[in-house]
Amino acid sequence: MDQIAVNGGARLAGEVRVAGAKNSALKLMAAALLAPGRSVITNVPRITDIAIMAEVLVRLGCTVDFIDPDGSSPVREVVIDVPEKLGTEADYDLVRRLRASIAVLGPLLARCGYVRVAHPGGDAIGSRGLDMHVAGLARMGADITGEHGFVIASAAGGLRGATIWLDFPSVGATENLLMAAVLAKGVTEIDNAAREPEIVDICAMLTAMGARIEGAGTSTLRIEGVAELRPVVHAAIGDRIVAGTWAYGAAMTRGDVTVRGIDPGFLEIALDKLVTAGCAVEKSQDSFRVRMDVRPTSVDIVTLPYPGFATDLLPMAIGLAAVSDGASLITENIFDGRFMFVNEMARLGAEIKTDGHHAVVRGRERLSGAPVRATDIRAGAGLVIAGLCADGVTEVGHVHHIDRGYPNFVADLRALGVAVHRSEAPDELAY
Ligand code: EPU
Repeated sequence: MDQIAVNGGARLAGEVRVAGAKNSALKLMAAALLAPGRSVITNVPRITDIAIMAEVLVRLGCTVDFIDPDGSSPVREVVIDVPEKLGTEADYDLVRRLRASIAVLGPLLARCGYVRVAHPGGDAIGSRGLDMHVAGLARMGADITGEHGFVIASAAGGLRGATIWLDFPSVGATENLLMAAVLAKGVTEIDNAAREPEIVDICAMLTAMGARIEGAGTSTLRIEGVAELRPVVHAAIGDRIVAGTWAYGAAMTRGDVTVRGIDPGFLEIALDKLVTAGCAVEKSQDSFRVRMDVRPTSVDIVTLPYPGFATDLLPMAIGLAAVSDGASLITENIFDGRFMFVNEMARLGAEIKTDGHHAVVRGRERLSGAPVRATDIRAGAGLVIAGLCADGVTEVGHVHHIDRGYPNFVADLRALGVAVHRSEAPDELAY
């Protein structure tokens, strides 16, 4: 099993550039299914999840090529050639490895009138339902059943526009319904829609493909279905979660980090929290700089759908709280299992008490290096950064999780001045 080892006492200083957002690029790849022909997505991060999504598309009959001028660039172009006649099944083997492959449900149903996608189940951050995806597609006239672990949807007469109220602004449900609605007959209105920048990005791509969408970035999306879409070239927006990881890393290590390739407006609340904690934050159009000279002051943080504080930055919020002066109340409102990784933070000496969706963290001057294990993408990155604030060596195991979402993690850490060692851990240490 791969592991990353860091020495405590390091300070993040320097510049990094973030690649395109994982959670945009994955959905943009699914959106390409909506138009036969060759679409190109640029600024795509070199991460495992993208490779799995490419495999999903290949099994549906697409040809997928990665254009990478130097063979190891953290950012690539993906060329997706979509056939007239697509396959209609995403099997369990792939969906198990990538929950986001459920994003093919809407586009395939819209294009083919039938789709069979394995039920993705939950994962290490909690149960993750599909009820809103299913209810919304049913409103649009789809007939949906569950059988042998598959979600089976059909719409023989085609999908038709409908008004859909989401119980919660689910990112995945908004995307699936949006991608179904662009080719449905008539007008669809999605109320209480997600407003994440990644939703705005997919709306921009769909609009360039010929879709008619109003209200991107607001709670109400109005989509007028069209008969067909055309392929496009589209660049994914920068990854706000990777950018936020470096911002919080700078704050925790009393560092000085400039992050490029990101609109700081995507991280408004997260950066504002850092100012409250004592950081100096400078923003420009597509970059920001975070400087910290003192021990952070504790801040309370509540995760919420965008524009609230992103749940994917929760491990960084806990890490910041763990080394801050004072106690912080951290509240998680999106995933029921997001605190699962705090046991690993506790191995580093972090003082954390959880109760339901709240965590009280009492900050300590220094953490204490230990072997720990990544449980998901964000927890993995959070543990490595926490290790920089610990005495001695911290070894983070199961770092294949980090590879799912951070294209250049080790190289970026090195660029920021950290001595970091990545290795295969002997089996007996792989727990
Ligand atoms: N939910 C339901 N029913 C549904 C849909 C969602 O109960 O039909 C619940 C989920 O169980 C969860 C909450 O609603 O508790 C939020 O789910 P949402 O659909 O908004 O999230 P998602 O689409 O599954 C995406 C990102 C996550 C990110 C969340 C929230 C992708 C591939 N994943 O997940 O990213 O945390 O939005 O912003 O876009 C990550 O990148 O590490 C990651 C987990």
